[in-house]
Amino acid sequence: MRQFKDDFLWGGATAANQFEGGWKEGGKGLSTADVTRFKPDVDVEDMQKQWEITSADIEEAIRTQDSTYYPKRHGSDFYHHYKEDIALMAEMGFKVFRMSIAWSRIFPRGDEETPNEEGLAFYDRVFDELHKYGIEPLVTMSHYEPPLAFVTEYDGWYSRESVTFFTRYVTAICNRYKDKVKYWLTFNEVDSVIRHPFMTGGLIEDHFPSHEAFEQAIYQAMHHQFVASALATKICHETIPGSKVGCMLTKLTFYPYTCRPEDVLKAQQDMRATLAFADVQVFGRYPAYLKALYKKKNIVLKKETGDDEILRSYPVDFISFSYYSSSCSAADTTGLDVAEGNTCAAIKNPYLKASSWGWQIDPVGLRISMVDLYDRYRLPLFIVENGLGAQDVPEADGSIQDDYRIHYMQEHIKTMYDAVTEDGVELMGYTCWGCIDLVSNSSNQMSKRYGMVYVDCDDYGNGTFNRKKKKSFDWYKEVIATNGANVLDR
Ligand code: BG6
Repeated sequence: MRQFKDDFLWGGATAANQFEGGWKEGGKGLSTADVTRFKPDVDVEDMQKQWEITSADIEEAIRTQDSTYYPKRHGSDFYHHYKEDIALMAEMGFKVFRMSIAWSRIFPRGDEETPNEEGLAFYDRVFDELHKYGIEPLVTMSHYEPPLAFVTEYDGWYSRESVTFFTRYVTAICNRYKDKVKYWLTFNEVDSVIRHPFMTGGLIEDHFPSHEAFEQAIYQAMHHQFVASALATKICHETIPGSKVGCMLTKLTFYPYTCRPEDVLKAQQDMRATLAFADVQVFGRYPAYLKALYKKKNIVLKKETGDDEILRSYPVDFISFSYYSSSCSAADTTGLDVAEGNTCAAIKNPYLKASSWGWQIDPVGLRISMVDLYDRYRLPLFIVENGLGAQDVPEADGSIQDDYRIHYMQEHIKTMYDAVTEDGVELMGYTCWGCIDLVSNSSNQMSKRYGMVYVDCDDYGNGTFNRKKKKSFDWYKEVIATNGANVLDR
């Protein structure tokens, strides 16, 4: 029988900023996610407009107390539903649950000296509930929600103080949860700071005198995140013996649009834009091609004495990544169609179909991505996000027949198995994204659903927030129970 190894970590993934809700409860402070607006009048494929944010927008958001256009404030209300949600995960047989801690629940402004006890106690309850069912937590320390005061008053990750504030936060959570959490990720999609500086780096463009200064700030923020991530790895290892810390990448896989050498070169360069981040976190130094880019762009990093030594001394233990789709690269894009993707748009591949949000579906690309990463880093991989964002429409009897989701996941699980058995990739586990419906990161829609459990809530926050199993629920339960055999033996 074809199966994954016995200790394979099957499960699902979420993030506090899109799932947890409870934005004003338990002493939580505001985060960047709480001021991110749902823009129904803007085309969902126009990412730049979707993500544009100014100081005036933030002020308006702070004045607005309701969450109609700020859906990440309520998310799926895991804050009040965690017991029910964890019971559903246990019923599916989850071995692991990927979640994140909201930094602003622990340090409401980001700059306090002592943590918020109510926030710490909430995650104690969540971890205890998970352990009750034998589910291992996999915790992201920072998933798109820097505390807002840290952003507006300190310029987020641009300021050097970011490293102090973040390591204080990491020390607090590692100390508190040392007996409860052994798998950690530092920054979700750490490479996204380039594409979405506000969400990831807490950078607001109008705080900087020019576009060039803003670009400089982005690279500076990236450096601070590298140093903070290395220090977080150190703190984790020292506080929790045997803990495993991973970096987390957006695996953007590009194919050359043609076999013209110029297109092949462009694809290689596009891939390096994200691989650069793992290069630093795994090899402990800036790669030469990144230094060359800085020189070309006149980027001058402010480094403190000891930064290089920190990067060198505390590399990550494993590589985790998200994979949803692939796209193409071309040296000359004139006349070529554009396809959407995870936080980035690129050239459409004529051989692939796309989701309703324009993300091109490519299961073979998952295998290619795994080989790319494993051959380069020789570290265990963990697929911590994969899935299909779709509009689920309940049938007349209320059931949700999401065969399209089952098909998507099944095809990806098959190529994931091939990467392990035929290409020799070491894979720790698979956590599908948004296992229980949550708010979309890119479009802020609730109607872009990934879950195997439906949450009754619309794009404006109307609904009961009741949970309902979709058809994929029993299917995934069987995948886990048979360790993949029900998919692989077909
Ligand atoms: C990843 C993020 O980018 O992709 C998640 O880590 C996000 O936060 C997921 O939700 C899917 O993207 P979207 O835009 O469809 O929610």
